[in-house]
Amino acid sequence: MATEKSEKIDPQRALSVGEVAERSGVAVSAIHFYEKKGLIRSWRNNGNQRRYSRDVLRRVAVIKVAQRTGIPLAEIGAALATLPEGRTPNTRDWRKLSAKWKQDLDHRIQQLTLLREHLSECIGCGCLSVSDCPLRNPDDIAREYGPGAVLFEQPDT
Ligand code: FES
Repeated sequence: MATEKSEKIDPQRALSVGEVAERSGVAVSAIHFYEKKGLIRSWRNNGNQRRYSRDVLRRVAVIKVAQRTGIPLAEIGAALATLPEGRTPNTRDWRKLSAKWKQDLDHRIQQLTLLREHLSECIGCGCLSVSDCPLRNPDDIAREYGPGAVLFEQPDT
């Protein structure tokens, strides 16, 4: 397999915050917020203007999708922090990130699937308000397994 070349950041191809906002579909204020949170980085050019390397577009895209699925910014930041600084992350870098994140994402997918599939059923939360509560959680026996939506959070009980 050809070794992947690590591309040095090219100031000529750098983007202004407006260009990043336009291309990513994210407001300038959000770009500044992501930077303040340490999720993305910029540098100042001779005119003291912020400039971003093009790979920031991929980082912003990942942040947007991850946020939409409910992943906290801190977790997104921890994942993006595994990417190299000072050079454009290559496919291997992104593969390493996704491998690290895979377990979390799989767990979220499992939770979201459970939610989608069991939302109309009794989830053992103690409300006794859904038609099959008497069947699946008579007299709220689920409370013996602990707090919360026991049948949902501990599907094996
Ligand atoms: S859904 Fe709440 S106890 Fe059944």
